[in-house]
Amino acid sequence: MSEAPLGIGVLGAGYWGPNLIRNVAACPDARLAAVCDANEAALAKQRAQYPDARFHARLEALLEDPGVEAVIVATPARRHAEHALAVLRSGRHALVEKPLASSSAATRELVIEARHRKLTLMVGHTFLHNNVVAKVREILASGALGEVLYLYSQRLNLGQVRHDVDALWNLAPHDISIAGFLLDARPVRVQATGLSYIRREQGIADVSFFTLHYENGVAAHGHVSWLDPLKVRQHVVVGSRRMLVYDDMSRDAPITIYDKSVEKDFLQPFSSFAEFSTRIRAGDVERPAIALEEPLAEEIRHFVRSVRSARPPRTDGIHGMEVVLILEALSRSMATGGGEVAVDYSSIPLP
Ligand SMILES: NC(=O)c1ccc[n+]([C@@H]2O[C@H](COP(=O)([O-])OP(=O)(O)OC[C@H]3O[C@@H](n4cnc5c(N)ncnc54)[C@H](O)[C@@H]3O)[C@@H](O)[C@H]2O)c1
Repeated sequence: MSEAPLGIGVLGAGYWGPNLIRNVAACPDARLAAVCDANEAALAKQRAQYPDARFHARLEALLEDPGVEAVIVATPARRHAEHALAVLRSGRHALVEKPLASSSAATRELVIEARHRKLTLMVGHTFLHNNVVAKVREILASGALGEVLYLYSQRLNLGQVRHDVDALWNLAPHDISIAGFLLDARPVRVQATGLSYIRREQGIADVSFFTLHYENGVAAHGHVSWLDPLKVRQHVVVGSRRMLVYDDMSRDAPITIYDKSVEKDFLQPFSSFAEFSTRIRAGDVERPAIALEEPLAEEIRHFVRSVRSARPPRTDGIHGMEVVLILEALSRSMATGGGEVAVDYSSIPLP
């Protein structure tokens, strides 16, 4: 593996780009080679902080910059396909923000282009580089919760309203990728409903409720919204013996395990509340100690390692395409008012 820091250019220095820029600049294995944004004010802010990098207003100029070996695409979702394709065609590795593109056909084109050119294509599903999510997966795999019965997640806030995609496509990529990672499976059927308030005339859903059905009968339910009084980022896993809550908003103890379940005779007739109470097991509450690390830092390190080793990243193009196929099926379900839709993975290019 080469020791030279990887020269990375970041395309898009709007709301999210500066977080990526900061982590690239702090990564010992990477070098912030360049930043590109069409908005001069956004560029000026970064120029003041990173005087050693080069700055470009046009993607073409970024892709002519000889110091740029890889590009992070942090432009609005609708532009990902066009921008990522240009990056790959210029011979650069690409880390693309989520969702990988706004259609599965476009994600397929990216996967094929990257393969053809032997380049790394990775999607920014940040939570799969989060050590807390990794810990939740480890707990589930250890069988500590018993059999996983169902999951649900909430990703809610007031804002940030997107202009190019609905709340489902903006927020649910995280929850879809987390559920798949925790269950080590991909859903076979999905359902979704959407509600439009802020963008009713454009028919863009601000709130969405969805369900991912897995082959083994487990379901992952999700609620995403940019029109909610609370900022919530939570996953609950209900197991046959224990239940787990992962609260991404908690800095000190993001995982709580409840030693709770119902006994086998739960549904038998009972004569008193005291008798009924004995059928619910409520033991200790455990909060495993876990050191908080910035997931974006690990995401960047993982990207660099993947480029250097030529091994597919955990969140590679195929993973990004699977999530987009699931989003498309969810959108189809939403259009029918919530009917079940099968997810068809057959367009994924064979290895
Ligand atoms: N992983 C996460 O948790 C997370 C969080 C927030 C946003 N995001 C993703 O980050 C991406 C960007 O989101 P944002 O909120 O920063 O958007 P934004 O609109 O605030 O910023 C996008 C920037 O891209 C620039 N841009 C667009 N087209 C360009 C072009 N052709 N050439 C040069 N510059 C161009 C714009 O000028 C703007 O500054 C989205 O894909 C979003 O889904 C990810």
